[in-house]
Amino acid sequence: MRINDKAVARLKELGDEIRHVSVAEHTSVGIGGTTDEILLLRHETIPQVMRLLADEKIPHKFLGGGTNVLVADDELPFVVLHLQGNGSGMRIEGNAAYIDAAADLGGTVTFCAKHDLGGMEGLIGVPGSVGGALRMNAGAYGTQIGPHVREVELYRAASGEIETLRRAEIGFDYRHTSFAPDDVMLRVKLELPPKPYKEVLAGIKICNEKRRASQPLNQKSAGCIFKNPPGGSAGRMIDELGLKGHRVGDATVSDRHANFFVNTGHASCVDMLKLIDDVRERVRGAYGIELENEVIVWRN
Ligand code: EPU
Repeated sequence: MRINDKAVARLKELGDEIRHVSVAEHTSVGIGGTTDEILLLRHETIPQVMRLLADEKIPHKFLGGGTNVLVADDELPFVVLHLQGNGSGMRIEGNAAYIDAAADLGGTVTFCAKHDLGGMEGLIGVPGSVGGALRMNAGAYGTQIGPHVREVELYRAASGEIETLRRAEIGFDYRHTSFAPDDVMLRVKLELPPKPYKEVLAGIKICNEKRRASQPLNQKSAGCIFKNPPGGSAGRMIDELGLKGHRVGDATVSDRHANFFVNTGHASCVDMLKLIDDVRERVRGAYGIELENEVIVWRN
C-alpha cells in the first residue's frame, strides 16, 4: 500500500521517514509482502500520526522486532509503523531498569546483568524487541517478562494519548496480555533482583546452551508456531506424529524442534499457513486438541 502524497507531507512535517519496504527483509522467517513503512523517529508525535492515519483511513500495523509474526505475501493492504530506538534506550536506577520498547530483549538482559541485576536470564535467547516481549508476555525457561514489569508507558488507542500504566492495571498471562491490539508500547520500568554479574552470566550460559541444543537457531523461523496447550507440549505432539520434515513448498517442520516451522528457501506466507493448518488438523485428529497460534498472523 502506498500512502497518499498529502499524508506523506504531513508525516514528514511530524519528523517521520517513509519508505517502501519488503517486509520479508524485516521478519526473522523471511516472509512478507511489500508496503510503505513509517519510521517513527519521535515518540511524542505518535498521537498525531495515529489521528492522521485514522482521518485518512490508512490501515496500519506496528512491526517490532519481526520475530513472532507471519505476514501475507504480495502488496499489503496496510502500512507498517516502526519505532526507531533512541541510542541504547536503557537506563538503570537502583534495581529498576528503564528500557525503550525498541530495544533488543537479549541486549536488555545483558545490560541489566552488567549492572548486577538478574531474574531475566531465561529470556536471553528470545529474539525481538522489548515492546514485542511486553505485548506477548514473552517467556522461556521458567521466566516471563510480566512479573518484572512495574510500569509501561504506551500510546493508548482508547484515549488517543500517551499514558503510563502501573503493574496492577496490566494483565499478564501465558503469551497473552491485557493490552489492546492498537496500543503501542513505548517504554517499560522493570524491577529486578540484585545478582552479581558472574552469577547472571552463568545462568545466561546455561539457557543459551539449552536453546542451541533444542531449537533451530541458524534457520529462518518465527519461533514457536503454536502455544502449548494446558499441561501439554505442542512440539512433543507434532514430533510424536512423525511430522518433523513435513513440508509445504519451502515451509518445513524443523527437524530440531517440531513447534518451529522453518523457511528453508523461498517459502511464501500461503505455504506457511497451509503447513500450519495441516499440522493443526493432524494434531486435532490424533489428540482431539485444537492448537492455538502463538505466532501473530497478518493476512491480506
Ligand atoms: N519435544 C519433543 N520434540 C520436539 C520438541 C520438543 O519431544 O520436537 C519435547 C521436549 O523434549 C520436552 C518438551 O517437548 O520434553 C518441551 O519442549 P521444550 O523444552 O523445547 O519447550 P517447549 O514447550 O516446546 C517452550 C516455549 C519456547 C521456549 C521454550 C524454552 C511455547 C509455545 N514455547 O517450548 O518459546 O523457548 O519453552 O523455555 O511456550 C516461543 O515462544 O516462540 C518459543 C519458542
